[in-house]
Amino acid sequence: MTKVITYGTFDLLHYGHIQLLKRAKALGDYLIVGVTSDDYDKTRGKINNQQTLMERIAALKQADIADEIIVEEYEGQKIDDIKRYNVDIFTIGSDWEGKFDYLNEYCKVIYLPRTVGISSSDIRAEKHKLSIGIIGNPGGGPKFANEISYVNGAELKDCGEGFENVDAVYVATIPSNHYQDIKNALAKGKHVICESPIATKKSQCEELLRFAEENDLILADAIKTAYSTAFSRLVVLAKSGRIGDIISVDATCTSMQGKLDEKNVDLSGVFNTISSWGPIAMLPVFQLLGTDYRQKTIVTRFLDRDLLFDGFTKIDFIYDKAVASIKVAKAAKSEGELVITGTKGYIYVPAPWWKTDYFEVRFEDQTENKRFFYQLDGEGIRYEIVAFIKAIERNKNDLNISAQVSAAISGVIEDFYRGDYIEIQ
Ligand code: CTP
Repeated sequence: MTKVITYGTFDLLHYGHIQLLKRAKALGDYLIVGVTSDDYDKTRGKINNQQTLMERIAALKQADIADEIIVEEYEGQKIDDIKRYNVDIFTIGSDWEGKFDYLNEYCKVIYLPRTVGISSSDIRAEKHKLSIGIIGNPGGGPKFANEISYVNGAELKDCGEGFENVDAVYVATIPSNHYQDIKNALAKGKHVICESPIATKKSQCEELLRFAEENDLILADAIKTAYSTAFSRLVVLAKSGRIGDIISVDATCTSMQGKLDEKNVDLSGVFNTISSWGPIAMLPVFQLLGTDYRQKTIVTRFLDRDLLFDGFTKIDFIYDKAVASIKVAKAAKSEGELVITGTKGYIYVPAPWWKTDYFEVRFEDQTENKRFFYQLDGEGIRYEIVAFIKAIERNKNDLNISAQVSAAISGVIEDFYRGDYIEIQ
């Protein structure tokens, strides 16, 4: 019996795929099809498949050409599969000509002609592209604009006078303007993704999220860290009890601010530490311990008191069964790490943890330690844009940051601006 194997993403299964599979099958008696997992595709830079792995497999099953379907999860797996399944022929479309010659050592390699004029990318591109406009520009703007180009299914456009040119708006204005800017965009029926915090008052943040939901619009809190695979994995891992009960979350984020001048600070102290670093540092605290803290203390040291520009702020949260602290600074330097303390072990994320692709789970007995690495491209921004588009397409707010977390972040910022802090000199 001649066994043939082929691999692909097979997103939105189309005629070209079917032809390829039939030709592959005709090369032997038994066809194995390897379908790339979502995670593996991400590491290959394919970030916006329209279908999940299960949907892609279901479509292949329905086509009824493959004798066996397997999942491709890691680089180098082809060699393992060829050996494991005693494969005689490896085949793939001619767009890969030469790329898999190294497999000749293990089996015969055949490149099959690719069907011209059709591809998953073309089908995805034919669908209406989501046009996103940008308002404001506090450092995040250019990065965000650049990242849109990695996401097929989205394009950058000028907003126009009244947002008429776009389907969605990325709000990157100063935090004190977010509420009004988001409100205007939502009122025009536009989806919004906004640099965190969504508002500088908790009630305003809740009002906007409610309004969006009632009007079938997506309002997303743009904290890119929430979309890094490593970060979301560490959150679920911590919640699964691997390190026991979580009793402390400690997050530090610092960067050095240049001299304060008109360029990097506005009159309401916008780009101050608490509103730029605060939301990021609060993310693991609220995602892991919830937003129902019993008490909190904000200690701050101003770089410029009149501008309400805090150079250093530390916040301690006390929960019923845990504590947390965030330390953020633009005029002080510290180790930008995240530590999650549990009753059995702890999770350690080295600096800069907010761009995390790596973390360790550590125990008293070091032989039990585990390390985790997940590729992170574009600091998570492109994944955030993909999640935003998918939420819009599915009309379902299944984003990584819940409404409660967004509201709690806005609430802490509100308390800061209300003067609810202890000042150190
Ligand atoms: N294929 C083909 N003819 C096409 C499209 C794909 O023969 N018109 C083959 C590829 O060469 C590969 C397999 O189908 O062997 C799976 O390819 P995949 O990358 O999943 O499909 P594409 O349509 O090329 O997807 P994308 O546009 O996302 O790259």
